[in-house]
Amino acid sequence: MEFSDLIPRAQAALRENDAGVFTKPGPRQYPHQWNWDSAVIALGLSHFDLPRALTEIRSLVGGQWRDGLIPHVVYHTGPSDYFPDPDFWQITSSPHAPAIPTSGITQPPLLAAVVRLLHSRRPIPGFVREVYPALLRWHRWLHTARDADGSGLVCIVHPWESGTDDSPRWLNALSAITPADLPSYRRRDTTHVNAAERPHRADYDRFIHLIDVFRRSRYDPQALLARSPFLVQDLLFNSILYRADEDLRALAEELGEPTAEIDGWLEKMRASFDARFWDEARGLYFDYDVRTGKPILVNTAMTFMPLYAGLPDEAKVQRLIHEHWLNPAEYAPERATHFSLTTASKTEPAWEARRYWRGPVWIMLNWLLADGLRRHGFDTLAETLRRDSLELMARSGFREYYDPRDGSGCGSTDFSWSAALALEFVAYG
Ligand code: GLC
Repeated sequence: MEFSDLIPRAQAALRENDAGVFTKPGPRQYPHQWNWDSAVIALGLSHFDLPRALTEIRSLVGGQWRDGLIPHVVYHTGPSDYFPDPDFWQITSSPHAPAIPTSGITQPPLLAAVVRLLHSRRPIPGFVREVYPALLRWHRWLHTARDADGSGLVCIVHPWESGTDDSPRWLNALSAITPADLPSYRRRDTTHVNAAERPHRADYDRFIHLIDVFRRSRYDPQALLARSPFLVQDLLFNSILYRADEDLRALAEELGEPTAEIDGWLEKMRASFDARFWDEARGLYFDYDVRTGKPILVNTAMTFMPLYAGLPDEAKVQRLIHEHWLNPAEYAPERATHFSLTTASKTEPAWEARRYWRGPVWIMLNWLLADGLRRHGFDTLAETLRRDSLELMARSGFREYYDPRDGSGCGSTDFSWSAALALEFVAYG
């Protein structure tokens, strides 16, 4: 098996970051449980310790709010040197807050897809029955609390909900926000990682301002839709949700649970998706800013995420791949020594090779995109992504992200989801 020497190293990294009932995304900078990280981590753990993988999922679901929200961070072990600390969120102002401290926002809903994948490989019917109600309630919450315009497409209210916190997609929406009466805070991320690889200060102030708006709204979903200065229909988030709804439906069917509600969500999303996100002139999908009522015309790798959802028709697929993915000015590596896939098009003025979501390669995106490519018959391109991912990890270790020009690592070291996906990519080549 190629790259099989990564297996013991990846297992060791996941064991190192194991905090008992959850796995830290990275050893220092991220000492709590993150939502979509944990979904991927569970997949990685399932390769060598299925019971521990199921514990990971149970712990995440343990942070679910009474109204269905599964939060982006669960603080199982109380405060740490991570900011925002649990108290900063002030979630107890909401009648829906759970007993355990959590953040008050969510993250891309990958969990149902992972549960179905695990179950398809090694049947875990009892576990599926156990977590299905929580998954259904989370998806229902997303389709109601976050449907701002009845389109069936869901909104995010904070860049952190996108999972691509510092993406150039959010620059305009953020610059329209004027942080007022900012609560005092001290960010900690730059104590662990080089500041040049982290978000700029002005953006960080806006991240905090948004949380303050939510706190003052007591996390009431209707109030957030009405007041959040940041309200966006995110391509990545909606693509992941669509796919996860399909997976949830398959689980429901198997359990003999009703499927009509889920069918309704899928149908609505399908009917709105291309009309809202597709730009025929440019041959790209774009996110949509609900506050301004305009598409966000920033060309990032999220444009390819509808492939993961299986939504684009053949003509759109061809345009995405031939005009953009294979275009060296945008996404294709310029030299044989460069790596796929850069997070944003190199034509974007905000493109930066080493800053967070501005350009670096993320193993996590490569995994989703490799799946999307295979779904549409681009097996060779998918194989390139898989090999590039494994090659990056073999050379530079399990880093948070990588410079696409030379494969050097950036951000956190010993990063859990990179290690988890090394196991996945080696096993399923
Ligand atoms: C960063 C990433 C986010 C991830 C978190 C923990 O905030 O942008 O996607 O979940 O780190 O790894």
